[in-house]
Amino acid sequence: MSASIIDGKETAAEVLETVTEATARLAAEKNVIPGIAVVIVGEDPASQVYVRSKGKKAAECGFHSETHTLPAETSEAELLTLVEKLNEDAAIDGILVQLPLPDHIDEGKVIQTIAPDKDVDGFHFINVGKLGTGETETAFVPCTPAGSMVLLRKALGKTDFSGLTAVVVGRSNIVGKPMLNLLLAANATVTIAHSRTKNLPELCRQADILVAAVGRPEMVRGDWVKPGAVVIDVGINRIDAPEKGEGKSRLVGDVAYDESLENAGSITPVPGGVGPMTIAMLMANTLESACRRAGVKAPTY
Ligand code: GUN
Repeated sequence: MSASIIDGKETAAEVLETVTEATARLAAEKNVIPGIAVVIVGEDPASQVYVRSKGKKAAECGFHSETHTLPAETSEAELLTLVEKLNEDAAIDGILVQLPLPDHIDEGKVIQTIAPDKDVDGFHFINVGKLGTGETETAFVPCTPAGSMVLLRKALGKTDFSGLTAVVVGRSNIVGKPMLNLLLAANATVTIAHSRTKNLPELCRQADILVAAVGRPEMVRGDWVKPGAVVIDVGINRIDAPEKGEGKSRLVGDVAYDESLENAGSITPVPGGVGPMTIAMLMANTLESACRRAGVKAPTY
């Protein structure tokens, strides 16, 4: 058996098309333009790339988009003042403060200052609590797990995962824990595994749905994959690739991709799997926030 490849680029493009169409309708019928503010502090090159592409995608969707670029020396108080100003700004539906922040700024404090109804990252305690208690209608769901669920629904051809066993490897607040809650809400039987878990390969071999979000290159091996399983690889790791020339590197996931093609029923590649979905779901969350403001139903994906 050879796995079918779950095309995240194609699915992200479909999500963005739906967002763009719904944005045009919202503007025409309700005179509401979704607005997103992205805040970046300092010059981390990877963060700059992410922030630029968020701004570009937002503009393509027809959003009002603003990027606030602050110097690395910005004080915590100055950043909190900006967040509070954006909380009050009627043109802004979604606020995203790019992480990581410089060491002298308390990330938790900044996240908890974002108004929960503009927290399109889904990191505020209110949104975390809503997701954990099954209030998925009014929560903002973190973008990477939300995008992973869109891919899973498409790969499995259903929204109800009753009877399926899911194993999530990784217990981060950004991916592992929200993924657990989303899978549970979809009626899967879920186990969350981490660095202290015993017999990880055996546990993974039970999984009809295997989600890897540990940040360790190719840790999940091909023989950990149950025949026919759906494999969602959230990892994006840059590793040396001397075979491509001196000093060259390449991106790999948390799953040994080539090995896993044998057993998996379907699998996300890296790059081109979960990655493109994250930004698409950020746009979907921002549209959702604007739809709530306008009192209309947001699309589902
Ligand atoms: N940095 C890396 N991923 C993310 C994310 O999903 N949200 C924010 N705010 N910062 C990030």
